[in-house]
Amino acid sequence: MNTRYGETLAEGALESPSAERNKQAILEVLERYLPATGTVLEIATGTGQHVVHFARALPELIWQPTDVDPDLRPSASARIRAAGLANVREPLALDVLDARWPVSAADAVVCINMIHIAPWSATPGLLRGSAGLLAAGAPLFLYGPFRREGRHTAPSNEAFDASLRARNPEWGVRDVADVASCAHEHGFDLAEVLEMPANNLVVVFTRRAGSAAG
Ligand SMILES: C[S@@+](CC[C@H](N)C(=O)[O-])C[C@H]1O[C@@H](n2cnc3c(N)ncnc32)[C@H](O)[C@@H]1O
Repeated sequence: MNTRYGETLAEGALESPSAERNKQAILEVLERYLPATGTVLEIATGTGQHVVHFARALPELIWQPTDVDPDLRPSASARIRAAGLANVREPLALDVLDARWPVSAADAVVCINMIHIAPWSATPGLLRGSAGLLAAGAPLFLYGPFRREGRHTAPSNEAFDASLRARNPEWGVRDVADVASCAHEHGFDLAEVLEMPANNLVVVFTRRAGSAAG
């Protein structure tokens, strides 16, 4: 289990302070792009704080949380149960590096704070898997710290990047241009880059029409 999830709450729910701080700002971006109905796949759900917040605010959408970490999925389950939400599915095991994903279609994909805390291969993995699920025009949202044009956007992100690389040399804050180039190869167009609080970005891609699933 990731050590940042230190505090255990009632009923097995874990708490991420940053998720608590950023969930409303992210929701306000999602609302601009998500369809009125359909299924939203969340990759790297973590504690479940985001999916519960989003599902409560957007009850017409079905939310499918997933995470590779078996120590985190029970937290999301506990939070979903405690929230009493009918529009959130049970969290599934999903590793973006796997060739086969346990879902066959989605109307949007949301991935918060994952691609920098994983090897670079997670980024093409995420894009390849998402391309296979989404119809033309459907959105894919990435949230987290990013570099832009080779530079960090804040000293705090530079220090965070160094701390990530010290923990695992394959981890690190990604450059928007590298991610956008990888996304393009996998059949996505860059729709928007939004500056968020605490020097984070939301990068929105849309599935390109007429391109084969990556
Ligand atoms: C920093 S946590 C972010 C969790 C949550 N999205 C949030 O923002 O609070 C990173 C997450 O990425 C997940 N993760 C790492 N590698 C992954 C992979 N290959 N496939 C799917 N999830 C992965 C971890 O299990 C963890 O839940």
